[in-house]
Amino acid sequence: MGSTVLTGIGTLVTNDPELGDGPLGVIHDAAIVFDGGVVEWVGRSSAAPSGDHGQDLGGRAVLPGFVESHSHLVFAGDRAEEFGARMSGTPYAAGGIRTTIAATRAATDDELRTNTRRLMNESLRAGSTTVECKTGYGQSVESELRSIKIAAEFTDEATLLAAHVPPPEYAGRADDYVRMVCDEMIDVCAPHAKWIDVFCERGAFDRDQAHAVLTAGIAKGLVPRVHGNQLQTGPGVALAVEVGAASVDHVTYVTAGDIDLLAQSSTVATLLPGADFSTRNKYPDARALIDAGVTVALGADCNPGTSYTTSLPFCIAIAVREMHMTPEEAVWAATAGGARALRRDDIGVLRPGARADAIALAAPSYLHLAYRPGVPLIQQVWRAGTSGYTAEQ
Ligand code: NIG
Ligand code: FE
Repeated sequence: MGSTVLTGIGTLVTNDPELGDGPLGVIHDAAIVFDGGVVEWVGRSSAAPSGDHGQDLGGRAVLPGFVESHSHLVFAGDRAEEFGARMSGTPYAAGGIRTTIAATRAATDDELRTNTRRLMNESLRAGSTTVECKTGYGQSVESELRSIKIAAEFTDEATLLAAHVPPPEYAGRADDYVRMVCDEMIDVCAPHAKWIDVFCERGAFDRDQAHAVLTAGIAKGLVPRVHGNQLQTGPGVALAVEVGAASVDHVTYVTAGDIDLLAQSSTVATLLPGADFSTRNKYPDARALIDAGVTVALGADCNPGTSYTTSLPFCIAIAVREMHMTPEEAVWAATAGGARALRRDDIGVLRPGARADAIALAAPSYLHLAYRPGVPLIQQVWRAGTSGYTAEQ
């Protein structure tokens, strides 16, 4: 394939402060060279080496591809009616997940695979070059195994969300469900997964149940991540820190103690403003987290119940306008922050040796992601140096 030289980049976000200005390591009038699927060179356009293929970007901005570290794409059906009811006054409760469990169990393999592919492609067109994908709408050994296999067909970042809510056949018997997960489900599904996740929240699983699931996953070589503190304060954050989770996600209702714990840990706080938007919840206090030194990531949390969007640009716009993150913090959180949440140092950054995962915007600066909300700004997407999507001009 040979090398590709992109010149005429108006603003290049490298996310490496040693390569450019500020925390995003910005280089103006920049160029970047991809070779063999990785970044070979970055610098000023005037100093760009020659290569086998060239493209002049005409002043557009280039960023690392977004790193989507939280999505639920293996499911069937949708919950538009539930959304409509919620917008008319019915509050969100974790139990709505059971509607999607029923639809997912009833779907054929092909239906599930086709829906997952559709949403993966939608994510790519929104600029996400890495997409973590959770199960969680099977909640039986057979159905979770099918879901994790499908997730693993589309991503290396497949997550077994073994305990999302107790399914109907375990109604009122969450402990029995957890026992089944720990004794059977995790053994069968772990070979296809990288991560183990649990929904630690009232109406889902309590601290001890969630701890049991995470510990069983860790024993099978999976790395923990946690859904916690979405609907009220609770034990999710402390549990995530205790087990050394890569991230705790939602983090909307936290105490000062939770923030301290996170600040002293390597656990990333992944904020999911699409869920708070679509459930008309309050937004997480990103400022308190960032100002305390917590590493913050942004995810879209695409799922049919609380956040049916794959758009990290949309989440960046909310994070800036509603959560008072600076544009730089929001862009970092959706790229390098997502990479931290997935414990990856080869993505979310454009420095020599990193994966050549990048996006070009139909705009001169990353600022336009928040400045032009709802506008399809993703002009071109490269994955491992290969052009994966180009918008019509
Ligand atoms: O991340 N909070 C738990 N899981 C999803 C919601 C899933 C659903 O409602 O179907 C979330 O928001
Ligand atoms: Fe989620």
